[in-house]
Amino acid sequence: MTDFAAWMQDCQARMESVLADWLPPARIAPERLHEAMRYAVLGGGKRVRPLLAFAAGEVTAADVGRVQHAAAAVELIHAYSLVHDDMPAMDDDALRRGKPTVHVEFDEATALLVGDALQSLAFDILASQPLADDAATQLKMVQVLAQAAGSRGMAGGQAIDLASVGKPLDLAELEFMHIHKTGALIRAAVLLGAHCGTASEAATAALDHYAKCIGLAFQVVDDVLDAEASTATLGKTAGKDAANNKPTYVSLLGAARARELAQELRADAHAALDSLEAPAARLRQLADFVVERTF
Ligand code: IPE
Ligand code: IPE
Ligand code: MG
Ligand code: MG
Ligand code: MG
Repeated sequence: MTDFAAWMQDCQARMESVLADWLPPARIAPERLHEAMRYAVLGGGKRVRPLLAFAAGEVTAADVGRVQHAAAAVELIHAYSLVHDDMPAMDDDALRRGKPTVHVEFDEATALLVGDALQSLAFDILASQPLADDAATQLKMVQVLAQAAGSRGMAGGQAIDLASVGKPLDLAELEFMHIHKTGALIRAAVLLGAHCGTASEAATAALDHYAKCIGLAFQVVDDVLDAEASTATLGKTAGKDAANNKPTYVSLLGAARARELAQELRADAHAALDSLEAPAARLRQLADFVVERTF
């Protein structure tokens, strides 16, 4: 196993256990909701956002005991966004992370409530754990996640996605949608990890630029994989974007040009890291992972 693969496994295992501790046990009332929350979050997913938080925390010499909680908060928002994204009113998907989606395994009302409750839990974590050197920074972190998840971040991007079905967006419109629905939360993951340590303004700006490139690249690759990979490898139904008539980087540019664009964004992300004084090897490797992944 490469050093990077071992680091990833280590972070993923840590994340699994932190999330398992934060999620209410299924034996506590309301049992079915708690069971569904655990079903939505545990035992699956690449944990890319937590990995980015851990790697950004390494750059700012953050205590990993702090970063793990910030990372969990971001992953909970992400998991909630997937549960709602899969519902019949949105993408209407039956498979997620290799398992039936939450509304299929449980029911639609439960899936709605799972999303609501995961979002609240994320902010409970950010508000209750000592995560930053000072209270003002910690308050800023709460705001960073709130804005990333909200109508001018992920939820807004999802609204644009739904309003764009069947419409041929131009490149600028497509970029705007992707930056919001996926980029915003990825950016929050990097910034939250960094804020757990001590970052100069210049370092924060460089990390922010890195995160914006990687956030867009992540969704460009998601579009490519939806068109090119199999349901078995993805753990979610392949070919759904075309079936749902969604404008994507593949529908606009073709898969080959979309892949090239992801490579260009990776190069920009790497260049942003060059200006950092601290070594950022893990962020560099994660940029490679985001662009080269096959699932
Ligand atoms: C899928 O995200 C949804 C997007 C924002 C593109 P991931 O590909 O990170 O999903 P998991 O967490 O690994 O299942
Ligand atoms: C999802 O984008 C973005 C969010 C969940 C916020 P997609 O709809 O492309 O994600 P997948 O392909 O279903 O994972
Ligand atoms: Mg969607
Ligand atoms: Mg979807
Ligand atoms: Mg997709």
